[in-house]
Amino acid sequence: MSHDPASSPLPPGSTIGIIGGGQLGRMAALAAARLGYRVHIFTPETDSPAAQVSDAATIARYDDQEAIERFVRSVDVVTFEFENIPAESVRHMAEHVPVRPCWSVLETAQDRCNEKRFFNSIGIETAPWRAVGSLDDLRQAIQEIGRPAVLKTARLGYDGKGQVKIGPDTDPAEAWAALGTGLDQAGLGVLEGFIDFLGEISVIVARGADGEWAAFDPVWNVHRDHILDTTTVPAPISPSLMDQAMDIAHRAAEALGVVGLLAVEMFVTPNGLLANEMAPRPHNSGHWTMDACVTDQFEQFIRAVCGLPLGNPERHSDAEMKNLIGADADQWLDILKDSSARLHLYGKAEARPGRKMGHVNRIRPRSDR
Ligand SMILES: Nc1ncnc2c1ncn2[C@@H]1O[C@H](COP(=O)(O)OP(=O)(O)O)[C@@H](O)[C@H]1O
Ligand SMILES: [Mg+2]
Repeated sequence: MSHDPASSPLPPGSTIGIIGGGQLGRMAALAAARLGYRVHIFTPETDSPAAQVSDAATIARYDDQEAIERFVRSVDVVTFEFENIPAESVRHMAEHVPVRPCWSVLETAQDRCNEKRFFNSIGIETAPWRAVGSLDDLRQAIQEIGRPAVLKTARLGYDGKGQVKIGPDTDPAEAWAALGTGLDQAGLGVLEGFIDFLGEISVIVARGADGEWAAFDPVWNVHRDHILDTTTVPAPISPSLMDQAMDIAHRAAEALGVVGLLAVEMFVTPNGLLANEMAPRPHNSGHWTMDACVTDQFEQFIRAVCGLPLGNPERHSDAEMKNLIGADADQWLDILKDSSARLHLYGKAEARPGRKMGHVNRIRPRSDR
């Protein structure tokens, strides 16, 4: 009989199944091990960052129902470090074992249109947007939203992939064609008004099966080439905006009934906050918590998924997280010589351009209290 973490905590020694083999799964597995759990990773990738530090790995496609069946029989709870899993696979898992967060959360977060519709439905503002399924839709949407705008695939985009900016002279047909391959897989796109933001922030909130919740401090994110470059905390925003940001993340987690983590990315504009996107899992903009908080995002994630009491998210230090992208990771020896730096590498063999190889957290005593 499988265990239901809603009713009682999953005891140490149990096995947590994690879907996805990337660095988020790796750091979650390390946090799970610290609490005495075993971890079984499900990923199509051989020698994945997560499997390197876990007890077991199933290497199979995300739609391999037979492999999923075997996997769920060997674990006590299932969670995700990657949310683009076929619905059928998740349904299959949920028949055998608790899945945290549940399918409806993934379904909302997998698709930018669903995501924005959800935010708007609970009174959270986003950039103006239109779902677009054809070139005609796109022309119409550009008329309604105006230029500049951004055309994105509704599904499967990350790190700026699957996005085209529509400037004053961009031919809609060319933009539509440029997104072609992404749209073949995803079917639908979304056109968003381009936001001339003051900056970008995010909030990560944890929510337990009993509705208990805890948020990490809002952080300031700077992207380079559409990939997160640095996260800084405290964020240079007013206390009132901080409260609004935490409220947005909490309301979204509550409305979705998330059990686990929810990260919400937002644009800071002169007229207030706009929600950009969300992820129901640990998030790159939460890596700073590993060295600057009493409980970090990965432990908090494991606690929520296993039905344990949530930890204290309090920040004891100021921090700057810098992603090590591609060849940046070659600096590992110099980083290790810096007394304010804590180095985290993900065990990836090949440093391809644009690939997240690790991150470094630089820590200073807390300045704002
Ligand atoms: N509507 C927009 N207006 C201005 N900048 C945007 C807009 N949408 C995305 N961006 C920029 O592109 C980055 C990546 O887009 P995002 O929607 O977060 O997709 P992903 O992170 O999945 O690639 C954002 O963090 C932001 O810097
Ligand atoms: Mg993003």
